[in-house]
Amino acid sequence: MNKKITILLSAILLSFTVISCREVTEPAADPVVFEPTPAAKEMVMAGAAPEVEVVIVGDPASGSEWFLNEGCNACHSTGAEKIVGPGFAGIYERAASRGYSSPDDYIEASIRYPGEYIVEGYSNLMPASWEEAEKQEIADIIAYLKTLQ
Ligand code: HEC
Repeated sequence: MNKKITILLSAILLSFTVISCREVTEPAADPVVFEPTPAAKEMVMAGAAPEVEVVIVGDPASGSEWFLNEGCNACHSTGAEKIVGPGFAGIYERAASRGYSSPDDYIEASIRYPGEYIVEGYSNLMPASWEEAEKQEIADIIAYLKTLQ
């Protein structure tokens, strides 16, 4: 090979090397680091997801409709009269004395699991048809029962 060409090729090669080295050594942009707060880090480590509380507000008018549509009225009067089950006059106040954490809890349990607490003087005759009732339906019937004094 001709000496001139060899030198020329070497020069070209060298310049390529210099260029590529320069490219590689060019400083990269600072990496973006996500730093969660210590509290968030602890939650993630504990496997906890942030809790979102959904508040369901009961509507007495819808509760009254549900009471009729589901046939609760076949066994429960809205007064003091006993049919198959107890009359619902004053049910919400009475519900507070059943040993549950709240009157709402008691009423919900009475509807979902009627055999769980049997009212004195009555038999376990309420059908267990509402175990899967919607949270909203339960909230509505509770709101309605509250209005029955
Ligand atoms: C076939 C009759 C029957 C039907 C229908 C019925 N219940 Fe009852 N229910 C009873 C009887 C009997 C009791 C009392 C025995 C017991 O505690 O399970 C009772 C008890 C209750 C109690 C507790 C009452 C108290 O004084 O502590 C609630 C609340 C209640 N029912 C709600 C409902 C609702 C709401 C419906 C409709 C979705 C309904 N029931 C449908 C028969 C019925």
